[in-house]
Amino acid sequence: MSQARPRTVIVLAAGEGKRMKSSLPKVLHPLLGRTLVGHVLAAATSAGADRTLVVVGHGGDAVPNHLAEIAPAAQTVRQERQNGTGHAVRIALESLEASLAGTVVVLNGDVPLLRAETVSALIEAHETAGAAATVLAASVADPIGLGRIVRAADGGLERIVEERDASKAERLITEVNAGIYAFDAATLRTTLGKLSTDNDQGEEYLTDVFGLLAAAGEPVGVHVAANAEETLGCNDRVELAGLRARLRDRINTALMRSGVAILDPATTWVDITASVAPDAVIDQNTQIRGTSSVAAGATVGPDVTLVDTSVGAGATVLRAHAVESSIGAGASVGPYAYLRPKSTLHDRAKVGTFVETKNSEIGAGSKVPHLSYVGDATIGEQSNIGAATVFVNYDGVKKSRSVVGSHAKTGSDNTFVAPVTIGDGAYTAAGSTITEDVPAGALGVARGRQRNIEGWVERRRAGTPAAEAAGRARASQGEASNEVADPDGSDS
Ligand code: UD1
Ligand code: CA
Repeated sequence: MSQARPRTVIVLAAGEGKRMKSSLPKVLHPLLGRTLVGHVLAAATSAGADRTLVVVGHGGDAVPNHLAEIAPAAQTVRQERQNGTGHAVRIALESLEASLAGTVVVLNGDVPLLRAETVSALIEAHETAGAAATVLAASVADPIGLGRIVRAADGGLERIVEERDASKAERLITEVNAGIYAFDAATLRTTLGKLSTDNDQGEEYLTDVFGLLAAAGEPVGVHVAANAEETLGCNDRVELAGLRARLRDRINTALMRSGVAILDPATTWVDITASVAPDAVIDQNTQIRGTSSVAAGATVGPDVTLVDTSVGAGATVLRAHAVESSIGAGASVGPYAYLRPKSTLHDRAKVGTFVETKNSEIGAGSKVPHLSYVGDATIGEQSNIGAATVFVNYDGVKKSRSVVGSHAKTGSDNTFVAPVTIGDGAYTAAGSTITEDVPAGALGVARGRQRNIEGWVERRRAGTPAAEAAGRARASQGEASNEVADPDGSDS
């Protein structure tokens, strides 16, 4: 995107966030698919920034490392000591050329509900008015802890006062500073040089730039956010949970308006990075995380967690946990299934109840219906894996792969000791421990033959209920065989 004035975005993310009571820096806390700072950067980027700087400090390399991953084009500026938001912007500007011109947008790193449209509207208002500085403000029911917008008699901005520095009367103001601003670059640079630390925290407040400019008769603006919710910051975990619920509602509302059936929006948590197609049905208590996608006509839930997993059109996923997996069109998963990374279910495949898969491919129309572990296996098309099958993939040192062909039918309670190959159309007998390949079309049998020791219970467990039951059964069988006419007269 190109615009008349160059735009520089500065995100403030050096603070510790003491009230989070966390070893994780505040801006790295996750919120439905992105970190707090990730949300802010996404809003800033889509509003069209030529250059983005992030002021980092607290938390060592954790924040820069994260930024290198999510926003490699962003420059990080280190603020060794957190001497205030004004100080943070000052050192960011000092890292840029002195001739920097255009608009500088400053965003607190902890306002994750901010939308790109709102940043654009702020920039638009600022640039159209030709203002020296414009602050995004919001009217809120509970302004506690926030900076207040103090307006002059003519309604213009006089200054911004922090709650701790405010008078009693000023504390009653419910119009607050959202922590998002647009500045003229050159004016910002000179004014930051004039900030004092004469306040309750002994810090350089960015907000004091507004009072200084207003006093000097420079044009300063207040842009009131259309939706106050967007300006909510995050200072502790209670607020974080509140933000998460609001973002959930925003995402679910957009999905429902686009045609997704969400049966219980209060218990459906879709990350902002995930996608759900129209006519998908999302049932209760379902989380769709990361890069997951759900195609049209699929039913997901109740009680499903998808992490970086794709669900094909018309598939059904019920009471399951799936990670980094792919579920084909018309496939069926669960109830009670666990798809571990790299599980690929082709179209119409089935992974049923109490089945775990990992690094495996289940071909089109193939079924693993009950009580099985499929690890490091490739299963062809239209095959059926019997109940209680284990693909034994680990010999204690290394993992090996097994292969089952197409149209194979393996018996219940099989173990396939990898590496082993079951050919196309082959069968295996129930209870087999398969250690050698079974050729196409063969029946693999690998189990001891059964022998029955007649009368053992009555002899060796005499007097037990089992022995008594056995005795009764023998007596009634005797009667029964007397009653039935035996065609060839033999005594069987
Ligand atoms: C700030 C504003 C307040 C506004 C509120 C909105 C100031 C002085 N006050 O208050 O008017 O209502 O945001 O949420 O700006 N940071 C740094 N370096 C520092 C200090 C802070 O990078 O030296 C970063 C923090 O990591 C955070 C942001 O700046 O992302 C805001 O800092 P915070 O301490 O939360 O400011 P508030 O007291 O909430
Ligand atoms: Ca804050």
